[in-house]
Order: sequence, then structure tokens, then C-alpha cells
Amino acid sequence: MSNRAGDAGALWGGRFEGGPAESVAALSRSIHFDWRLASYDIAGTRAHIKALHSAGYLTVPEIEKLEKSLAQLLVRIEDGSFTAKPTDEDVHSALERGLIEIAGAELGGKVRAGRSRNDQIATLIRTYLLDEADHLEKLVLQLVQVLTDRAEENLAVAMPGRTHFQHAQPVSLAHHLLAHAWPLSRDLERLGEWRARARLSPYGAGALAGSTLGLDPHLVAKELGLSGPTQNSMDATASRDVVAEFAFICTMIGINLSRFSEEIIIWATAEFDFIKLDDAYSTGSSIMPQKKNPDVAELARGKSGRLIGNLTGLLATLKALPLSYNRDLQEDKEPVFDTVDTLSILLPAFTGMVATMSFNKNRMELLAPAGFSLATDVAEWLVKQKVSFRDAHEITGQLVSFCEKNGLELHQVPDEEMAKISKMLTPDVRDVLSVSGSIKARSGAGGTALPRVIEQISSLRKLVAKGAN
Ligand code: ARG
Repeated sequence: MSNRAGDAGALWGGRFEGGPAESVAALSRSIHFDWRLASYDIAGTRAHIKALHSAGYLTVPEIEKLEKSLAQLLVRIEDGSFTAKPTDEDVHSALERGLIEIAGAELGGKVRAGRSRNDQIATLIRTYLLDEADHLEKLVLQLVQVLTDRAEENLAVAMPGRTHFQHAQPVSLAHHLLAHAWPLSRDLERLGEWRARARLSPYGAGALAGSTLGLDPHLVAKELGLSGPTQNSMDATASRDVVAEFAFICTMIGINLSRFSEEIIIWATAEFDFIKLDDAYSTGSSIMPQKKNPDVAELARGKSGRLIGNLTGLLATLKALPLSYNRDLQEDKEPVFDTVDTLSILLPAFTGMVATMSFNKNRMELLAPAGFSLATDVAEWLVKQKVSFRDAHEITGQLVSFCEKNGLELHQVPDEEMAKISKMLTPDVRDVLSVSGSIKARSGAGGTALPRVIEQISSLRKLVAKGAN
């Protein structure tokens, strides 16, 4: 096939007799998705020309002209007067064309010295993701804040706590809501730790083996707000674990939203009737006039699948790639961009849904003791009377069985029937047969008792306040 795609090989035309075939140019092109890195590319170029200048490759008038030209180019990008052409392969080639259009071929052509698109893209993806990390962090912090607020409003509301999705022990609604805030706090911690690894600059790695021009990589890193240069030029251009780790953290955030979503969807059913979603955060049905659907929660659940797909796609791209740069690495961008976009659109809606849903407190409290959820309290009360836990478990099991056979709740069993099961089951056991007593008694570290919940709220408030700075 001799269909040539014009000057698509502008960055590397010298040894070629013509541009690539149109089909190859179409396959190669990444401009339609990496255009979002344009301002990062310009920042990278700005840092790079400083290094060229300090190493003596650009005079003062030259660097001044280049700086002005880059500023102009940025304005043109922002006002839409400079756009990508179909013949631009990627954002780097498009912006080099743009710079040459403004600064002239002679001066513009000097800028590529000492860098390759390989170290360039490895740096830009980091600076871009660092900004997105800040943005997503704010969105997650808002959700943590809303969960903490909602917990504080519901300190005294009891609800059934579950294991295996069966009634297990009563907990406070506040404790349950905070149990969804803590995983998000760990995701924020992960983002913080990721930042330390991401904040390094591959500039200077060149194509793979480093640069001969003596450009100062510390200067470039500093200009880009990064903490220093990477240590191995091959690793710097070949690795994308920084991208994969970022995608993992985002996926974990999505999975955490999805787990809560599953509960929200169930809580909103007529059978549970634990919550009502606000009209603004639910949708109707085109045919069934009575319907009110928890679409936000369903989309959160669905989109977490998409995030997992992006992450696994990215990992599959990295698997078995030999050192150092391979074009496969271009495939890192679409998944991670989609992950950023997905969370950016999901989190505000999710937070709004949590902020506005109303809790049917009476219903939750009514069901808190159901399913003999105070049985552990009876067993532990027996332990306090010096019965071994093994016997206490057995005695309480018989009590539950008696209740089931006779259609009674634990507190409805007459004294003499209790005594028949075990002489240790004295009427004093009734002290622990209340939901509020049970919750109050669980005052060990991290428990559902009020003082422990208040401690959690204050820790999370500190985290939100720190994050907001
Ligand atoms: N668009 C490419 C990427 O995203 C930029 C680097 C291209 N390098 C190369 N040697 N062809 O990975």
C-alpha cells in the first residue's frame, strides 16, 4: 500500500523516504486522547528549555523568545485557535509544530535536543496524574465529610449489624456509616504514598540510555514541581507502575463506593425500607409511574466494573514488555484517563445521594434486635458470671432454640423456663437484653459504643481538615 499520510512522520522524517501509510498513521495516532496533556507538555518544554539554556545551548534572547512563544501557544490552545491536525501523531508532535509556527523552524527546532518523546511522555503522565490526584482527593474528602456528618446526626440510632448478610449484633447507624468512611480514608492515604513515588522526573532519560548533553535533570524536576530525577533512565522510560498504581487506587475507591451502593440499593427496597432517596438523586421509570430507582448507586456499582476493566487492561499491557520503551506503552493512557473521568463524574453524584438520603430510623430500630441479635450479649453475660465461653455458647444456643420453637423473643422467655435451660440464667440477664444496653457495652477499641464512635468522628474530622489544606 502506498497511501502516504503526508507529514505525519515530521519528528523522524530524515531516514524515511515518505510518511507512513494512512492505515499506519491512523493506528499510531494518539492525539485524540493525549491532547489533554497539552498544558503539561508545554510545562515540560518550558522546564526543558531552561535546562538547555543553563547548559549553554540557548542564548538569553533565544530562551526569552521561546518562553514567549510557548506562552502564546498555550493561549492559542486555550482559546481554541491552535488545534491538532489530522497529520499530528501525538500531542508532542503537534505542539512542536505549534512552537515552530510561532518561533520559527531554526529556533523551534533546537528544543528537541536532549529529550525524546519517551522521557517526555513518562514525565507528563506523572505531572498530569499528580494534578488529577489532587482533584480526586478533594472529591473523596467531601464524601468522607458527608459520611461523618451523617454519622454525627445519627449517633443514637440503632440498626441491625450483619455478618453473612444475616442479623448478627445491633450497631449504631453512625458506626455503620463510618465503616464506609474508613476505607476511603485509606484510599486517601494510598494517594498520599503514591504521590511520593510519582513525584520524580524521567526527563534526561532520553530515549532510554540517558543524555549526552549534560542537561541538569534536577533543574527540570524543580521547574516541574517534582522532587528530583529518576535514577535509572531505562526504568524511567519503560515503567508505568506509577500509572497502574494510580489506577488501582481509583479502582479501590470505586469498589468501596460499589460496596456501599449494594447496601443502599437493598436499603431502599420495600422489604427493607431503611432509607428514602431524595428525588434529585433517584430516577423514575418511563412505564411504571410508581417507580423510584436508585440509579446513582447502581451506576456506582456498574462503573466499578469499568474501573476494574481499565486497571486489568493496563496491567495486561505491561505484562511481558521487555525493556525499555515499547509503543505498547501508548496504551496506558486511555484506560487511566477513563478512570479519572469516571471517578470525577461519579463521586459528586454519590456524595450528593448520601448527603440527601433520609433514614427510616424507626424501622431500623425496630429490626435492630430481630434475629436474636442479642444472643452474644447473653453469652458474654454468662462469661462474666464465670461460665466458660464454650458452655455459655451452648446455653445461649438452647435459649435461642427455645425461642424459635415457641415464637418468642429472647426477653420474653419466662424466668422459670430460663432456669430450666441453665441455673446460671438468672433474671439478672435481662439487664443486657436491650439494644441500647448491647451497643453501650461494646465499648472496646473500635466498638459501636457511643464514646468509640465519637472518637472516630473526631479522627475523621481531623483528616478532612488536614486534607482541605
Ligand atoms: N504517544 C507516545 C506514547 O504515548 C509517545 C512516545 C512515542 N515514542 C516513540 N518512540 N514513538 O507512548
